[in-house]
Amino acid sequence: MAAVTTTGPAGRITVERLTQYSGTDLDDLCEATESAIVEGGGFGWLKVPARQVLENYWKGVLLVPERRLVVGRLDGVVAGSVQLSRAPRNNEAQAFAGTVTGAFVAPWARGRGIGRGIVSALEILAVELGLVVLNLDLRATQRAAIGLYESLGYQRWGTHPFYSQVEGDIVPGHYYYKHIGPK
Ligand SMILES: CC(C)(COP(=O)(O)OP(=O)(O)OC[C@H]1O[C@@H](n2cnc3c(N)ncnc32)[C@H](O)[C@@H]1OP(=O)(O)O)[C@@H](O)C(=O)NCCC(=O)NCCS
Repeated sequence: MAAVTTTGPAGRITVERLTQYSGTDLDDLCEATESAIVEGGGFGWLKVPARQVLENYWKGVLLVPERRLVVGRLDGVVAGSVQLSRAPRNNEAQAFAGTVTGAFVAPWARGRGIGRGIVSALEILAVELGLVVLNLDLRATQRAAIGLYESLGYQRWGTHPFYSQVEGDIVPGHYYYKHIGPK
């Protein structure tokens, strides 16, 4: 799938599978991550790590064989991303399932459809890879993400009361799945 670009009042939005970083992609991704962490939705990070740590993390994402990356750009600048994680090769019994993880959009680029665009593109990729179901989990406080995933048809099947720890408080988390395959 080539990159898909739409231009509207919200700007030029491009959704793209990324297998290598070019130009300022890595810097842009790090900056977008930093702004998401500062705002409080840094997919796990609670404090902004050193830039080298972020760079190593994002370089590593492209090196993991079971991982795929979809990014969203606003006017060419990487503004958010989502990852598809597949079961390791030894786990044949769960090879049909993927996990949607690390979805985020930088605060300055939210509300323009980038989140919906990158998750929808990841679903298309998952179908192409022959996956049948997608799983994900998130903090119960992540209201925008809950709205996004529920509007895309993800079914909540459980809530973990001791899911995450933020500023000393234990926060519950929700678990979702979406059946995307033929079986
Ligand atoms: C969740 C997130 C990725 C959404 O990104 P976005 O680009 O702003 O989302 P979109 O503009 O594509 O909105 C898609 C849908 O999400 C939902 N949504 C987005 N923002 C919302 C908000 N503030 N409150 C409730 N629902 C919201 C809506 O259903 C929206 O559809 P609509 O525009 O038709 O109403 C973004 O808010 C984010 O990065 N949050 C912090 C990180 C996070 O929670 N990640 C998910 C955990 S894995």
